[in-house]
Amino acid sequence: MAQSIHRRQFLNNTAMGSAAGLALAGGALRAAQSASETVTVGVMGLSRGRALAQGFAEQPGVIVKYVCDVDENRASAAAASVEKEVGKSPKPIGDFRRILDDESVDALVCAAPNHWHAPATILGCSAGKHVYVEKPCSHNPREGELMVEAARKNNRAVQLGTQRRSGPAFHEAMALLHDGVIGRVYCSRSWYGNSRGPIGTGKPAAVPENLDYELWQGPAPRVPYYDNRVHYNWHWFWHWGNGELGNNGVHTIDLCRWGLGVDYPIRVTSSGGRYRFDDDQQTPDTHVVAFEFEGEKTLTWQGLSCNRHREGFVKFYGEGGTMALDGNGGYTVYDDRDKVIKEGGGQRGDAIHIANFIAAIRNDTPLELNAEIEKGHKSTLLCHLGNIAHRTGRTLNCNSANGHIIGDDKAMAYWEREYEPGWEPKV
Ligand SMILES: NC(=O)c1ccc[n+]([C@@H]2O[C@H](COP(=O)([O-])OP(=O)(O)OC[C@H]3O[C@@H](n4cnc5c(N)ncnc54)[C@H](O)[C@@H]3O)[C@@H](O)[C@H]2O)c1
Repeated sequence: MAQSIHRRQFLNNTAMGSAAGLALAGGALRAAQSASETVTVGVMGLSRGRALAQGFAEQPGVIVKYVCDVDENRASAAAASVEKEVGKSPKPIGDFRRILDDESVDALVCAAPNHWHAPATILGCSAGKHVYVEKPCSHNPREGELMVEAARKNNRAVQLGTQRRSGPAFHEAMALLHDGVIGRVYCSRSWYGNSRGPIGTGKPAAVPENLDYELWQGPAPRVPYYDNRVHYNWHWFWHWGNGELGNNGVHTIDLCRWGLGVDYPIRVTSSGGRYRFDDDQQTPDTHVVAFEFEGEKTLTWQGLSCNRHREGFVKFYGEGGTMALDGNGGYTVYDDRDKVIKEGGGQRGDAIHIANFIAAIRNDTPLELNAEIEKGHKSTLLCHLGNIAHRTGRTLNCNSANGHIIGDDKAMAYWEREYEPGWEPKV
């Protein structure tokens, strides 16, 4: 596939150089080539990545050549499960740079922890790979900006793993909203609930033999290994994670932003904390964030990590009624008397999201992604701003052109992080 793209770019740049010729010939060329072109991928980070490896392997013409994890038990288990479920056997490896160095690989799929997302994506783009990267796209705001730059500079397809962006019923609901089914939409609310337990008080411990903790840390400055952070609980430490807001809030905030038709906020507030348990967790388990946008629009997210009762998933409030979305693509439209006037339903979009990424690679249309990195950065940035408002305890005033925080150096200090020397992302 890597060669086919070069062949097509050569054709586009030469014989069919006129814009009209390109549009016609490009379409015919795509139809003829796309179904048969093999796309080769390597998947990094194999908890969520195990499901993604299977999802990619199930796509026609896609080869999952590598499954990579710094925990060798997870790498071999993922290779075995892809083989069992899909009948194709990827090679288990421990260092994702082998994926970047392999010229036959078209794309990197990154489902490692959040502190890896931007550095791996930027290295991937520089190595000529397209990247499917899990949400949130970045560990901090500056990284999201650099990811957009890296995608543009290298002309790569970079898709964020906000799979509902590809759900047909979500598209249907958004089209209704944007066509005015509930009039002007000025407010959106979203919720998350779970029943997570305590993570305890960690103790320094020996690194398990099956884990390459040095490469697990990668871009993050070195800290000793503790027995309650790897795997998964890193989400609740600012050094690697972004709390529930970056973990699950990003999914619904992305839908709110899509429906409201907003980009960067002008004001951000936060309230909450680690209320439910007294343990090592640094990030809130009880959190409400609110965002105001130009044009008199507002968006809120309420996350309760330790109580499952949810008031809903996502709702939109307009001058002529209300729309409610559920997490699987179902939607209900209410009129201004709160009477149901329309209902729809559908799938979440996981397989279509992967297919959309593969199509952008085959068709050389990196900007035609449903969750193109610039959209992904804007939604992720709202989570970062909510967390910065929480950590500073202050209301943030932001520049509506780029989300940068105005007149608050302490808050702006959270815009970027320190890196382990040698791992600083460079576009
Ligand atoms: N889109 C979704 O619905 C969805 C669902 C779950 C998780 N996620 C995202 O996936 C990411 C991973 O979450 P998780 O729950 O699987 O976490 P996890 O900690 O359970 O798994 C992460 C895996 O990445 C591995 N890893 C760490 N550094 C690595 C490296 N340098 N190379 C290869 N592997 C490395 C770890 O060893 C671990 O196996 C998170 O960013 C999360 O937000 C997305």
